[in-house]
Amino acid sequence: MQRRTFNKVLGSGLLVAASPSLIKGLLFANDGTLFASYERALLVDEKGEPVRLGALATEVPYVFHYPHIATPCFLIKLPEPLKQEVALKSSSGETYLWKGGVGKEKNVVAFSAICSHALTHPNPEDSFITYVPKGGQTMAYDKGGVVVCSSHLSAFDPKQGAKSVAGEAKDPLASIVLEYDEANDKVYASGVLGMEMFHQYFRIFRPQLADRFQSARKARQLVKVSTATVTLSAFTKEIIQY
Ligand code: FES
Repeated sequence: MQRRTFNKVLGSGLLVAASPSLIKGLLFANDGTLFASYERALLVDEKGEPVRLGALATEVPYVFHYPHIATPCFLIKLPEPLKQEVALKSSSGETYLWKGGVGKEKNVVAFSAICSHALTHPNPEDSFITYVPKGGQTMAYDKGGVVVCSSHLSAFDPKQGAKSVAGEAKDPLASIVLEYDEANDKVYASGVLGMEMFHQYFRIFRPQLADRFQSARKARQLVKVSTATVTLSAFTKEIIQY
């Protein structure tokens, strides 16, 4: 995959180079490597109401789509506070800093739900990738509290920025950058940090996505304004987890 540089999205959806210093408080990598900013989207529930952090069930994986209307992401409220920043490394050797989630405990986190190994992802029919709660069991890892891709038994630790901790996957899951408007209790997605797999995803799953979104071009549309957020079990008919 090509090394990506820092980009900022203007209102038109056009990606242009921008200085990392222009994004206040969101400087993730010194040179902006592996960080892309997109139009900010409000996370809303199935009724179109803003997702409230206090109303999220702990350790239940939610699905929303960002930055494209066809790229699924997980939203997870973890059971413990996250205070540490985590330095992560891509398989190509680039390092970047993950700053945790949002909320008072920084424990509401979001990641691309496209597996960094071979792109397994949730779709309306089934999902071989899910979050296994702390007390849960998986063949992929010796304990729960991890995102597990059961296609080839990879595990990712959401407390460590979805770093790969077991299996074939080498890259962390890409992080979705969240912003929290505390005064209004609103959560926004605003960027992607890490080695996202969108290009390969749109190429490999072109027929399925074209079918589901009427055309491959429509599937690539960027999310505007808001993005619906539902539990994984409501999004897909079957969750397969080993
Ligand atoms: S596709 Fe996820 S582990 Fe292989």
